Amino acid sequence: YPAEQQKMVDAHELIGKLYHHLLINTKEGADALEYLLSRGFTEEGIRKFKIGYSLPEWDMAVKYLKQRGFQEEELEKAGLLIKRESSDGFFDRFRNRIMFPLFDSHGKMIAFSARAVNPEDSPKYLNTPETAVFNKSSLLYNYHQARSEIRRQGFAVLFEGFADVISADQADVKNGVAVMGTSLTQDHVQLLKRLTDTIILCFDSDQAGLEASNRAGAMLAEQGLEVKAALLPQGMDPDDYIQKYGSGKFQKDIIGNALAWTAFKLHYYRTGKNMQNEGEKLKFIEEAMFELSQLSNPIERELYTRQIAEEFSISLEVLEKQQKQLVQVQE
Ligand code: UTP
Ligand code: MN
Ligand code: MN
Ligand code: MN
Ligand code: MN
Repeated sequence: YPAEQQKMVDAHELIGKLYHHLLINTKEGADALEYLLSRGFTEEGIRKFKIGYSLPEWDMAVKYLKQRGFQEEELEKAGLLIKRESSDGFFDRFRNRIMFPLFDSHGKMIAFSARAVNPEDSPKYLNTPETAVFNKSSLLYNYHQARSEIRRQGFAVLFEGFADVISADQADVKNGVAVMGTSLTQDHVQLLKRLTDTIILCFDSDQAGLEASNRAGAMLAEQGLEVKAALLPQGMDPDDYIQKYGSGKFQKDIIGNALAWTAFKLHYYRTGKNMQNEGEKLKFIEEAMFELSQLSNPIERELYTRQIAEEFSISLEVLEKQQKQLVQVQE
């Protein structure tokens, strides 16, 4: 990094060490530590991901970093401080929060995502704003640590939240990364593509997660990656699942049973439809035929078409005819 940006990194490394120390060694951090342990974070996980705690004070980072030669203006640019509106001076952006450091692809600490300890505090996660060293739409959480595992295992698991990444890592799924509360971007796709040609999506099992899987998967597939989607019981996220059922079941039943992309799309089109309703049933079949008409592999196409033919007692010929028409309409 150029000197000015290196200073932002240095500030993060210093304050990050202090936050980590406060969490694991002090009375002030005891409640936050207890919260993390009670929801299943392990001491090893807390150390590996350098999780910390910021005190409920307005000037802890201000004082600590000023004493160490940093200017308030440069700390503001680094996202750590906020300028007061009514009077002179600056105050800490992060107060009374659990601090998850964010690292660049070389493992340098460049930003934080800070989780509220009090359920009343909003937002739940407060992120460092865009800075000269941090751009949230091109960062994947845990990329620097997962990189070698992704290469070794031949696939990456893409999560929605970084609590999921940490929980999965503790459950020995060490090739997980997450976006930072944004949609997947082309930058993310390229970062993944450098390491592997296969991605397993493992998003929260709610409507938002399903829509996000659909969008992310389409982007990845578009760039030539093989995409699978791991489905969780309704309403759960991967972290919830691992805490409830353990790592063996997560690896075997969830990751191991991830759906191929076409099977996911069929599941996606089914979701929210009442198949007892003729109109909704026809709508599903139409969407499914369109999806299958796009497949380039004839064996795959026939396999799925047969399944739908049997399920709805429609002849294979009729469904195939419909697919041909859909392709022609496009041409
Ligand atoms: P979730 O709401 O699913 O959070 O948001 P989570 O990871 O399950 O967190 P816990 O278990 O409640 O602690 C998924 C991701 O969206 C981003 C974060 O990156 C989070 O990991 N997010 C969420 C924000 O940036 N801000 C928010 O206020 C909420
Ligand atoms: Mn969610
Ligand atoms: Mn579902
Ligand atoms: Mn979640
Ligand atoms: Mn969660």
